[in-house]
Amino acid sequence: MKLQSSNITPRTLVDGRRDALRRMLSGTGALALGSLPSLGSAQVLAPTQRPGKLAPLPSKASALAGAQAMDKPTAYKDASGYNNFYEFGTDKSDPAANAHTLKTTPWAVDIEGLVKKPGRWALEDLLALSPMEERIYRLRCVEGWSMVIPWIGYSLAELIKRVEPLGNAKFVEFVTLADPKTMPFVGSRMLDWPYTEGLRMDEALHPLTLLAFGMYGEILPNQNGAPLRLVVPWKYGFKSAKSIVKIRFSERQPATAWNKAAPQEYGFFSNVNPEVDHPRWSQATERRLGEDGVFGKKRKTLMFNGYEAQVGQLYAGMDLKKFY
Ligand code: MTE
Repeated sequence: MKLQSSNITPRTLVDGRRDALRRMLSGTGALALGSLPSLGSAQVLAPTQRPGKLAPLPSKASALAGAQAMDKPTAYKDASGYNNFYEFGTDKSDPAANAHTLKTTPWAVDIEGLVKKPGRWALEDLLALSPMEERIYRLRCVEGWSMVIPWIGYSLAELIKRVEPLGNAKFVEFVTLADPKTMPFVGSRMLDWPYTEGLRMDEALHPLTLLAFGMYGEILPNQNGAPLRLVVPWKYGFKSAKSIVKIRFSERQPATAWNKAAPQEYGFFSNVNPEVDHPRWSQATERRLGEDGVFGKKRKTLMFNGYEAQVGQLYAGMDLKKFY
């Protein structure tokens, strides 16, 4: 049975969600963002700094210890112009050129599997579920480049707690949209569509794991995974599934798109680890977008992408060469 969103969402949130959506669509949240204090080098962009901006998404600075990368955020044009979103093409510029066809309203996410409260959540309900925070995370792609992005969202744990996983739920699977009408590469044989990803329950519940609805003070551009995506900053970027339509709780480890496509290259865990090379290249260094060119320096890749203090204990005793 599919529950109505209003059945699974407390009254106060049902009332608040309309406000959240109205603010998001009309742009009246701009003031809250523009008045945020400076976060070291990571200044929140004033809405007037860029033409063609998307609707502002209100948020406050994250208080989560270890969440804020102090490196300079990547330029918006790089973060939104150099993407992996294979449903829209394989070139890094394809998603920005093609993802305008993605239709993000209406949107809903189905919660399925081993939970007390399965059901369909409308986007408005998800937006109003918890206050949004700005989290400035490093994102390291398995291909050897990295970015620093000020995301907006809240910990995935907020949603997980709300749907009450059963005791035997050990994994969480993320299923993303696969619509051949709006996504020109769905149907290509590169991946087994839909693009799916998964996390162990303790990883999914970790406060750093972010359900993101925006970046750089605005709603997500389509090419970055609108209207909602995952961001798991200590794992290679491909774990951060874009345009999620289903979250399923299971006892068994779910299959993932890249593991199915090339199991010897992409495992289930996919933790950033400079000591475990990809079979075809080293993972010891990375190039930060915006710093390329002949004289652009390479950076040393950090264990767990620099989040070891926060997440290292999740993998205590595990052989990370075996569980790559
Ligand atoms: N999600 C979907 N649905 N489809 C994809 O092709 N690519 C992944 C991930 N999420 C991908 C996806 C990969 S390989 C990376 S590196 C990140 O998205 C890139 O996110 P960004 O473009 O916002 O930097």
